Amino acid sequence: MKNFLIKLYTGIRLRGRPQGRRISPLATLKGNVSIGKYSYVSGHADIRGIGSTTRIGSYCSVARGVKILSSGQIHGIDSISTYPFYLIDRALARADFMLHKGDVVIGNDVWIGADAIVMPGVSVGDGAVIGAGAVVTKDVEAFQIVAGVPARPVRKRFAEPVCAAIAASKWWERDYEELKPFVHLICAQDSRGDEGMLETLRMLARTRQHESD
Ligand SMILES: CC(C)(COP(=O)(O)OP(=O)(O)OC[C@H]1O[C@@H](n2cnc3c(N)ncnc32)[C@H](O)[C@@H]1OP(=O)(O)O)[C@@H](O)C(=O)NCCC(=O)NCCS
Repeated sequence: MKNFLIKLYTGIRLRGRPQGRRISPLATLKGNVSIGKYSYVSGHADIRGIGSTTRIGSYCSVARGVKILSSGQIHGIDSISTYPFYLIDRALARADFMLHKGDVVIGNDVWIGADAIVMPGVSVGDGAVIGAGAVVTKDVEAFQIVAGVPARPVRKRFAEPVCAAIAASKWWERDYEELKPFVHLICAQDSRGDEGMLETLRMLARTRQHESD
């Protein structure tokens, strides 16, 4: 009953489209989970925040079947039994069976590919990409692409100056209405190269400058 109420509460709190979020009705969100603006979570994704917190930033893409685990999904493996005896004895506290690995923190504009698994306590930096089917056991740097089981770095998305400029722009803090005039440039898959991207970021910075003048 308690688990059902936790699920219901988390579902109601995050569903609908407040701040442009889109959470599939076929996704499971359980416990202490927060999701930033415009991020979407596809069907059959299963995101847990039991015994620790799971925070997902803004403008993130969470594909079908992604699983994000939390401390509540870790069974002790150094004891005689790994079995969670609290399931059959209400006198036992679930918390006593959890191993605390810390929170899961997913940055902004992170793309998590289909069926990837993010293990408890992992942090994923802004702009990172997690390949389909990856099992992420270690922290992932900002703008890093990782893939495989266990997930290993494939490459950085951009050269360091571009990564630094995107990070400094913090574009994901802006509402879509503010980004709208630039969205074709932000998503351009063209041959403008690093200098083109840096120019777009300078343009974005100037718009914020004008607003604060
Ligand atoms: C990770 C990903 C973004 C990499 O794209 P990319 O940079 O174009 O990568 P490439 O195809 O050039 O592959 C680079 C290397 O990584 C490997 N690789 C790519 N994706 C992989 C994956 N998901 N798992 C394991 N290895 C992968 C390739 O085999 C290749 O290895 P090699 O250098 O030994 O030949 C992409 O493959 C992926 O998984 N995208 C997620 C798609 C998805 O889940 N969509 C869901 C709907 S939103």
